[in-house]
Amino acid sequence: MVMGQRWKCLLLIVVMALSGVHGVRDRTLYGVDGLSDNYYRYSCPNAESVIQTAVNTELDKNLKLAAGIIRMQFHDCFVEGCDGSVLLDGSNTEKQAPINAKLIGYEVIDAAKAAVEAVCPGVVSCADIIAYAARDSTVKLSGSRWEVQGGRKDGFHSSASEAEADLPPPEFGASQLIDSFARRELSTAQMVILSGSHTVGVADCSKIVGRLYNFNNNQMTDPSMDPAYAEQLKKDCPQNSWNTTIEVFMDTITPGSFDSNYYQVLQQRKGLFTSDQTLLNDARTSGTVNTLMENGRFQKEFGEAMRAMAAIGVKSGSQGEIRKYCRSVNY
Ligand code: HEM
Repeated sequence: MVMGQRWKCLLLIVVMALSGVHGVRDRTLYGVDGLSDNYYRYSCPNAESVIQTAVNTELDKNLKLAAGIIRMQFHDCFVEGCDGSVLLDGSNTEKQAPINAKLIGYEVIDAAKAAVEAVCPGVVSCADIIAYAARDSTVKLSGSRWEVQGGRKDGFHSSASEAEADLPPPEFGASQLIDSFARRELSTAQMVILSGSHTVGVADCSKIVGRLYNFNNNQMTDPSMDPAYAEQLKKDCPQNSWNTTIEVFMDTITPGSFDSNYYQVLQQRKGLFTSDQTLLNDARTSGTVNTLMENGRFQKEFGEAMRAMAAIGVKSGSQGEIRKYCRSVNY
């Protein structure tokens, strides 16, 4: 009799765990921090396809936003963990930080949220939508697909000064980058792989004029940059372009395609930022740069590194909520 009850109890726990009852999570079943693949399979079975359709519809109107969404995942996760804090509107929120001034794609997340709310109200978090949308944006730019884990709650807090303090600036060298990623339990190799997302998208001239015109007391231009490329960039970004809207591509070989050419660009000494070129110049990272140029390697490893990044500081239970609108907390 007692044995029978024990078995019933055990069976109940297994059924609850397998059926995705969100309060019951076994780390071995659900992986790190309660995240899991196919998280919404029972609570909102079409969530991923509904989100993908909405994301693709928005990207068909403006493909430039795809790079913005990939960057958004990074900027969300490095500040307060992956909790959608980057999406909150308000006077001193992360969005208002200078480092996020050129972050784009919020309307894509709004569209995906509206679409998924229409089929499953109050179920899918905005933090998860960023993670799915970053994957879908990568695929839209011809990158490889990966399984995205779901299960993040949306946070209540967002601070401009935290964003400014927590996100690495483009002037960082290898040691600072390694430290910044290590603090989030990401390895040096994962840092090099994730930086490979600079294979798509653009940067504002203001981010590089320092390297071109004001490098240090002895040299106007960063000597680690290919001289012909530096001259080209000076034409694109005049000396006074601290405050312009001029943009340059980050991957000069295939700027619109999610491929491993970023690492080729570094070999050519055409990395746009100090934080890019340092990856080839530093002995702790150059080996990974060379390996990632091998056929198919980057594509495969990028998805795995994105899964690791998308697990930073995930909120669960009462630490968060499922926002109704991604731009504001629920009341
Ligand atoms: C390693 C440290 C990193 C630094 C210092 C850095 C810095 C930057 C900067 C300064 C820009 C230009 C934005 C502007 O003009 O305001 C940029 C763009 C971008 N970053 Fe990073 N980034 C880093 C890592 C990452 C990571 C980990 C990802 C994603 C996994 C990422 C994805 C992107 C993308 C896709 C763009 C292009 C955005 C667009 O075209 O709208 N970056 N990054």
